[in-house]
Amino acid sequence: MNASIGNQENSQSQFVPFAQSPLWQLQRAYFERTNVKAWSTGEVPHYVTSNPYTAKAYAQLILGFLRDNYTPQQPNAPIYIVELGTGSGRFSYRLLLALAQLAETVADHIPKFVYVMTDFVQDTLDFWETHPRLKSFFESGLLDYALFDAEKDTSLYLQKRQQTIAPGDLSQPIITIANYFFDAIPQQLFYIDEGQAYQGWTKLGGYNPETPPTSNEALASLSIQFEYHGLDEIPFEQPSLQQLFRQYKSQMENSYLLFPHIGLNCLLNLKALSLKGLFLITADKAVHALEKWQNRPEPQFAKHSGCFSLTVNYHALKAHCGILGGQALLPKQSSLGITVGAFLYVKNPERYRETLLSYQRHVNEFGVDDFFSIKKHIEQDIESLSLRSLFAYLRLAHYDPRLFRQFLPQFRALASQADVATQQEVVRTIQRVWRNYYPIGEDEDLAAEIGILLHEIDLHDEALTFFKWSEKIFGPKEITQVYQALCHWALDKPDVCQSILEQVLVHNPTQRIALHFLKKLKHQASLASNQVPE
Ligand SMILES: C[S@@+](CC[C@H](N)C(=O)[O-])C[C@H]1O[C@@H](n2cnc3c(N)ncnc32)[C@H](O)[C@@H]1O
Repeated sequence: MNASIGNQENSQSQFVPFAQSPLWQLQRAYFERTNVKAWSTGEVPHYVTSNPYTAKAYAQLILGFLRDNYTPQQPNAPIYIVELGTGSGRFSYRLLLALAQLAETVADHIPKFVYVMTDFVQDTLDFWETHPRLKSFFESGLLDYALFDAEKDTSLYLQKRQQTIAPGDLSQPIITIANYFFDAIPQQLFYIDEGQAYQGWTKLGGYNPETPPTSNEALASLSIQFEYHGLDEIPFEQPSLQQLFRQYKSQMENSYLLFPHIGLNCLLNLKALSLKGLFLITADKAVHALEKWQNRPEPQFAKHSGCFSLTVNYHALKAHCGILGGQALLPKQSSLGITVGAFLYVKNPERYRETLLSYQRHVNEFGVDDFFSIKKHIEQDIESLSLRSLFAYLRLAHYDPRLFRQFLPQFRALASQADVATQQEVVRTIQRVWRNYYPIGEDEDLAAEIGILLHEIDLHDEALTFFKWSEKIFGPKEITQVYQALCHWALDKPDVCQSILEQVLVHNPTQRIALHFLKKLKHQASLASNQVPE
C-alpha cells in the first residue's frame, strides 16, 4: 500500500522522506562552511545554551550525578562527559570552569572525570585546539576532543589521549551533553491518526541538486512542500525505536509528529560504550508533554540565516528512556523558550538521589528559562539600576560577560562617584566576568571596554592589563594604544607614554589626543630642563 494524503499536485518522484531531504545536507554544509563564524556573527542563536548561568546549572547536575556514582573503592577509570555538536566551545569552557570549581570542594567524594568536546566539523576542532582558554584544561588532562558524527559514528577517538572508546569499553557510566543539537540533525516526520501512520515526504521548491545553494540567502529562499505516504512496515531497525513508534501509532490523534530517530540512535550508540548506562543533559526549544503533540499541525521551521531548527520532541526522548528502564527529568512548568531535560538511562534511576535533587533545585525551582526571562526584563531598564543592583544581577548571572557588557555604560556612569571599597568591588566583579570570557572572533572588544572603565576610575595598572588583553585578542589598535599612553601618563611614566604616542602618530599623524599629550609632554620636558639646578 502506498496511500498518500496531502499535496497531490507535485510529482512524487521529487518527494523524498523528510529525514532524507536535501535540507539536512544543506544544514550540514552550512556548519562545515561557516565553522565558528556561525556563532561569532550571531547567525545561529547560542546565548541561552552557552551562558554561565546555564553552564553552572549543568555543572550542578553533573556534580549530582558524579556524587551518585561515588564509591569508596573508586575505580581508576574516569567518567567521560561527552558534548555533542559542541560548536564554538564557549559552553564547554564555562561548564568545565564551573564544574572544576565545584568539584574542588568535594574532590575526595566524586569519581574523576574527563570532558570531551565533539563535533562533526574538523575546522571547529582545529579552533578548539588553539584556543588559549582551553589550553590549561587540555594540559591538565581534564579536557579532550573527538571528531564525532552523530549520524554514523559508534565509537569515539580522543585526539589528545590518542585513545579509542569502543562499545563496552567503559566501566563507568557516560554523561552526554546535547545543546541545540537534536534540532539540527535529521528527524522523521509522521502524520498519525486513528491508529494509522503516514510518513512525511518533502520536496524543496527552488532546489536543483545539480547546483545546490551555497549561500545563506539561497537556503532561506527555498520552499518546502509536504505529502504523506502510508507505511508497510516500521521504518526503524532498533527494537526500542520500533516500540516507541508503535506506542505513538496507538496514542496519537490527528498529529504531525517529529520523530528524532538519528538522535535516539546516537544516544543508543553512546550508551553502548558503557556497561553502566548514560546520563543525558540537553537543552532545546522542545515540547515534552504528549498532549502538546496531539492535534499538532505541520512543523514550523525556524530559519537562522543559513540553517534552520525545529521544535524537538522531548516526549520521544522521555518515552524512549522509559522503554529502556530509565527515568526522564523534565520541567514541571511549561517553558516558552528553552527546555532543559535530564535523562537517566541507567538501572534503578530512583537511586540517583543527588541527581534528582540537583534537577529539582537547578531546573524545576528556578531554571535557565527563568533566568533568561529575568535577563530580558532587566535589559529594559538598565539606566535605573544602582551599582548594588548591578552587582546582584551579575551574581545571579554567574558573571555573564554579555550581561556585563550591557551594564558597562551604567557602570561607567556610576563607578567614578563610588567610594574606594565599591570601586574594588567593581574590580572583583570584572575579574570574575573576565574568567568567563571566551572569545570566538566577535567584533566587540570587551577587554578594551573594561580597560576604559578602569582608566576612568583611576585604576590605571588594572586598566593596562585589559588593554594588553585587547591587544592579544585583536592586535594593536589606535584607541587602545592611546588609552595605554594615558594610563602611563597618569602613572607618571612620561617616557613610556611618549613612545606609545609617537607610535600612534606614525600610523595616524593627525591623531588629536596623541598630538595634544605629546605637546604637553614636550612642554613639561622644557620646563624641567629650564629649572636651575640647586
Ligand atoms: C545549532 S548548533 C549548536 C551548537 C552548540 N551546542 C550550542 O548550543 O550553541 C549545532 C551543532 O551541531 C553540529 N552538528 C550538526 N550535525 C551534526 C552531526 N551529524 N554530528 C555531530 N555534530 C553535528 C554542528 O556542527 C553544530 O556545531
